[in-house]
Amino acid sequence: MDYLGNNGEHDNELLEAQAHAWNHIFNFINSGSLKCAIQLGIPDVIHKHSKPMTLTKLVSALPIHPSKSRCVYRLMRMLIHSGFFALEKVPENDDQEQEGYVLTNASKILLKDSPLSVTPFLLAMLDPILLKPWDCFSTWFRNDDPTPFQTAHGMTFWEHAGHEPKLNHFFNEAMASDARLATSVVINKCKDVFEGLETLVDVGGGTGTVSKAIAKEFPHLECIDFDLPHVVADLKDDGNLKYVGGDMFEAIPPADAILLKVRLQLLIFIVLQNNI
Ligand SMILES: C[S@@+](CC[C@H](N)C(=O)[O-])C[C@H]1O[C@@H](n2cnc3c(N)ncnc32)[C@H](O)[C@@H]1O
Repeated sequence: MDYLGNNGEHDNELLEAQAHAWNHIFNFINSGSLKCAIQLGIPDVIHKHSKPMTLTKLVSALPIHPSKSRCVYRLMRMLIHSGFFALEKVPENDDQEQEGYVLTNASKILLKDSPLSVTPFLLAMLDPILLKPWDCFSTWFRNDDPTPFQTAHGMTFWEHAGHEPKLNHFFNEAMASDARLATSVVINKCKDVFEGLETLVDVGGGTGTVSKAIAKEFPHLECIDFDLPHVVADLKDDGNLKYVGGDMFEAIPPADAILLKVRLQLLIFIVLQNNI
């Protein structure tokens, strides 16, 4: 009998439990490997090759130290397992190697020049500034800080972004990249939601990716992108789109509709102007 009181009957359950725990313990390897692949430009290199790319060709096209060449195979195995690349037969007479790497739908949206690229979102969410709060998660449960970000950095995320141009820039880029993808779907599928409106305010609209697309699609709609002053400070009004800086907890510009978007959840409130 082992120390769990198991006399051998439950070995499979025990192994499954261990595998489950290990999968969770090492989950970070998935996002870490993906970030590494993006920083090395692997999806773009394979895309440029425009046919299945053998390991030898991939290694020689990457900006890596020669001593690390043999590790690329392992990195690619991880990323095939997580669905970002696949292996396909290399066309005959092309190479000694039989198989080469190709992109999947998941890596196509990580290409640098794709109009719907989510790479800025990935790089922001996996930046140490945004990972550190997870390291402080249990500390945050024990103290009275409002967010784990506050525990990690001693201020709110928005205060930090206001003082730190690099964070402000990469976070706004991340939001904009996510917004491009969501907006293309919303404008195609939900056109009727905007019909009959004369004015709309996107509250916390970031640098205005969503408002810009809505303003362009509905030229008779007066759109306002409303966000914290440091986010909209350098943005110029354009036609039926205006940028207004302020704090939504104090006041927001009046409009027929308020749009609130965070990631793929998009809420539109149609409101009477006087009730705002
Ligand atoms: C998660 S981002 C969402 C950005 C954009 N709506 C999108 O989905 O891409 C939240 C936004 O709210 C803004 N924000 C945070 N606190 C705010 C406040 N008190 N008043 C106005 N905007 C605020 C941030 O600057 C940021 O751009």
